[in-house]
Amino acid sequence: MQTHEIRKRFLDHFIRAGHTEVPSASLLLDDPNLLFVNAGMVPFKPYFLGDQTAPYDRATSVQKCVRTLDIEEVGITTRHNTFFQMAGNFSFGDYFKREAISFAWTLLTNSVDDGGYGIDPERLWPTVYVDDDEAERIWRDEIGVPAERIQRRGLKDNYWSMGVPGPCGPCSEIFYDRGPEYGAEGGPEVDEDRYIEIWNLVFMENIRGEGGGKEGYEILGPLPKKNIDTGMGIERVACLLQGVDNVYETDLCRPIIDLASELTGRGYGAGGNEDDVRFRVIADHARTAVMLIGDGVVPSNDGRGYVLRRLLRRVVRSVRLLGASDPTMGAIVDAVVDLMSPAYPELAQQREHIVSVSVGEETSFAKTLAAGSKLFSEAADATKAGGQSTISGSDAFALHDTYGFPIDLTLEMAAEAGLAVDREGFTELMAEQRSRAKADATSRKASHADQTVYREFLDRGPTMFTGFDELVSEARVLGLIAGGERVRSAVPGTELEVILDRSPLYAEAGGQMADHGSITTSDGTRLSVRDVQKVGKQVWLHRVVVDEGEIAEGDRVLAAVDSAWRHGATQGHSGTHMVHAALRQVLGPTATQAGSLNRPGYLRFDFHASSGLTDDQRARIEQISNEAVEANYEVNTFETDLAKAKAMGAMALFGENYGDRVRVVEIGGPFSMELCGGTHVGASAQIGPITVIGESSVGSGVRRVEAYVGMDSFRYLSKERALMAGLASSLKVPSDQVPGRVEQLVAKLRDAEKALDSVKAEQARSAVSGLIDQAQTIGGTLVVSGRVGDGVDANGLRTLVSDLRGKVADRDAVIALFSVAGDKVPFAVGTTAAARDAGLKAGDLVREVAPVVAGRGGGKPDLAQGSGTDAAGIDAALTRLRDVVGGR
Ligand code: ALA
Repeated sequence: MQTHEIRKRFLDHFIRAGHTEVPSASLLLDDPNLLFVNAGMVPFKPYFLGDQTAPYDRATSVQKCVRTLDIEEVGITTRHNTFFQMAGNFSFGDYFKREAISFAWTLLTNSVDDGGYGIDPERLWPTVYVDDDEAERIWRDEIGVPAERIQRRGLKDNYWSMGVPGPCGPCSEIFYDRGPEYGAEGGPEVDEDRYIEIWNLVFMENIRGEGGGKEGYEILGPLPKKNIDTGMGIERVACLLQGVDNVYETDLCRPIIDLASELTGRGYGAGGNEDDVRFRVIADHARTAVMLIGDGVVPSNDGRGYVLRRLLRRVVRSVRLLGASDPTMGAIVDAVVDLMSPAYPELAQQREHIVSVSVGEETSFAKTLAAGSKLFSEAADATKAGGQSTISGSDAFALHDTYGFPIDLTLEMAAEAGLAVDREGFTELMAEQRSRAKADATSRKASHADQTVYREFLDRGPTMFTGFDELVSEARVLGLIAGGERVRSAVPGTELEVILDRSPLYAEAGGQMADHGSITTSDGTRLSVRDVQKVGKQVWLHRVVVDEGEIAEGDRVLAAVDSAWRHGATQGHSGTHMVHAALRQVLGPTATQAGSLNRPGYLRFDFHASSGLTDDQRARIEQISNEAVEANYEVNTFETDLAKAKAMGAMALFGENYGDRVRVVEIGGPFSMELCGGTHVGASAQIGPITVIGESSVGSGVRRVEAYVGMDSFRYLSKERALMAGLASSLKVPSDQVPGRVEQLVAKLRDAEKALDSVKAEQARSAVSGLIDQAQTIGGTLVVSGRVGDGVDANGLRTLVSDLRGKVADRDAVIALFSVAGDKVPFAVGTTAAARDAGLKAGDLVREVAPVVAGRGGGKPDLAQGSGTDAAGIDAALTRLRDVVGGR
């Protein structure tokens, strides 16, 4: 059964049982703990926690998931995929254990004709949490699984949480027995390779606290309701139903392996396990990379971008180790898009972008490899020069850390150079780095732990944002938090977080930075607001410092936005919409938004494009934006539902999770319409001039335009004008003649350089003409040879050789000249007709002498050239030349 069919049957089964089908969320959901979505339940977390009310009681989805913790295991075990699809059914306070178990069982064991997977019930082994008598009873008495095939397991295996504070509960897993050829009898307790887990049913009923590992945390108490969260691994089921050995050989992965085999000319399953692992790595990683790029990730050196970079580089590396030297990424990625787009049509729409990002990384890794190879050679030379035979751990680590060289690459190159590598030292340094990263991750979790202090506020419901209509609002202090703890009051100098029932201060979102402002009371207390953030998208958190007086919970206050700041912020944000609209007019709809940031006076906008803007495009974008400013379009904002907004053509950010009700900001009717929660000017002329100050690359396939707006734009232009005036006065011409004058100067300089070159050439020529007088006759051939002054390149040498040859054209003569130019040793050899008749060919002579100066070369019988690196060998090379001529 094909993977797409397995997905479809799953969804149909649960839709028939009253579930709402929910499309997969982006892999990049906004959760401080997660790099990527790694389970089907992640998008539903607020419903389990009771932070939001679920719009349905039952849901089903097939969620894209990425887990990269075990990246080194990929291809080695049978079941580690970095990208996989988790099919799940969810109940939000509706059904519980009995139905969850029965739904899973019927789908697995119903015959194929009845819409099921047709799995033999005898092969299935459920496990239950150690004290979950109820689940065991249901399996045994209601489903009819024999008691000896139900195993009880502890916290580690049968109690599920996201690994961080949040919803959790006991679970029941279903395992499939692959048969005696895969391992020992005795159920999952004995062998999880033979008994492979395919489905996890979580009875989500509690909330867990901080604590490490799978067993070291506390259960804080029950969730508001009892829920169900399940996850079935589509790839694992496919592996079983397709009768293949591992998850890499299923219908959606195997074609990539076959393609890689075609591209590299090596057979899968033919060249030993090492090769096979490489094939599986290519298939697994290329697929994950495509899914990540499809959701907006671009390669970079940290966070999500680094994971993507690592995956792509491991693909390139594996392909090379399999013997291909030509670029293959384009073909591989293209094939992945073909395989995955039936389920994820957005991939086909973004094909060009996905290919260009992947190929861009392949190209840049090739450069990295070249640069790293240089570092490697230096390290290898230094090792040898020091009489050692082992490359140090720190060199290997530097190669890994700076150039992304996998250790196996360093090992292999070392072996080629006859050296070993201090693996222990390398491993130690890696471990140190890992513990640093871990400490970093722990501190990130700590900030999440702090979020429990916001829980009470989240439970009370959203705080109110009044800042679309007013800049000053009366409000009440709901809570004060300092150092992650609730406090009742605070005195001057304290940094704290303040939650108000209502606030006009804009919290950072959608690329717009938070408002600056103040919170004051009638008795003279004053707090400066430095930042405003949202917790759980609905509670406004003001980060403040107390300047004067004392603030306490329950106080009545005035919250005020710094109006100059807000004016600038609206200019920046509306300006961003103008530039976005202009960009789409100039580049077309493929230039989708990849990110943006705006603050008073400045904006930047990132978009997908495979090449930079031309001067003309940049000028047009600036002109169109400024014309729209000049038109003084009215800015309208209104709320509507998502479907209507999209039907009107409002632009939305891909991968963003919008609620059902959305806010639309419209500037000049069709000119610009975007889903946006930001603050804007009332009419476009208030933005002031928009000046594009730069356009650059911020990763493969992503470009950035930056611009100034309002007075900052004016200040920038005025600085440019002053600069121009300065130039004009140094060049002593009016400004409009500066370009002409500079051009003239450049031309003059070029002429002067040319003249200098010909003087140098003339000097060299007269220097070499003396060589004819010193020429030796060897075996009847006149050998004119020697070293000319330094700095003459290969072309210069050819000219000199031709000149000299002209002077002895009617004789049997060979001319050979060497020079030293930088760290190169160029040389050229010429022969006369008589010498050639006598069997002397310039090309052959060059090949004879090249190794003596550690170089290479070649050419025709009459004229040939080469280049070496060892200047100390020039005399020996000249002797060799004479020997060859004499020994002919
Ligand atoms: N959330 C559960 C898991 O990821 C189903 O295994």
